[in-house]
Amino acid sequence: MTVESLQDLFLEALKDLYYVEKTLVKKLPKIATLASSSDLRDAINQHLQETEGHVERLDQVFEMIGRKATAKKCDALDGLLKEAESVTGEIEDPQTRDAAIISSAQAVEHYEIARYGTLACWAEDVSNDDVRDLLQATLDEETAADQKLSAIAVSSINQSAAA
Ligand SMILES: [Fe+2]
Repeated sequence: MTVESLQDLFLEALKDLYYVEKTLVKKLPKIATLASSSDLRDAINQHLQETEGHVERLDQVFEMIGRKATAKKCDALDGLLKEAESVTGEIEDPQTRDAAIISSAQAVEHYEIARYGTLACWAEDVSNDDVRDLLQATLDEETAADQKLSAIAVSSINQSAAA
């Protein structure tokens, strides 16, 4: 489609995030099995459940703006996941692999935080408060997930990985 307005940009970014969330629902279970720290595994599995909720919120947003829920391939996410697979796949030491998983997961979280932050802001102009609140709710969960990963890294994994 040709993008000519903020509404168009909003819709394109929504489709991008729909692809991101749907892809993560498929990929997170495998990533959780690669983690050796039980804290990290639990955090990933908890975020998997939240991610299923993110898909549902996007379904609601599409419905509220009267558009069919559609995913548009996100090259940024595919690139981040490809890099994550090539880095973590080569690491034998479990703690070091956990540190790499956290690093990759945070790169994905930061991408989502950037996108949801922009969309929540645009929603003020192109949509309504309900749409903005849905996007903000997911943004808050992505931010919390990112902070939790930092806390796990600091509290346990990094020191063992550095040893
Ligand atoms: Fe998400």
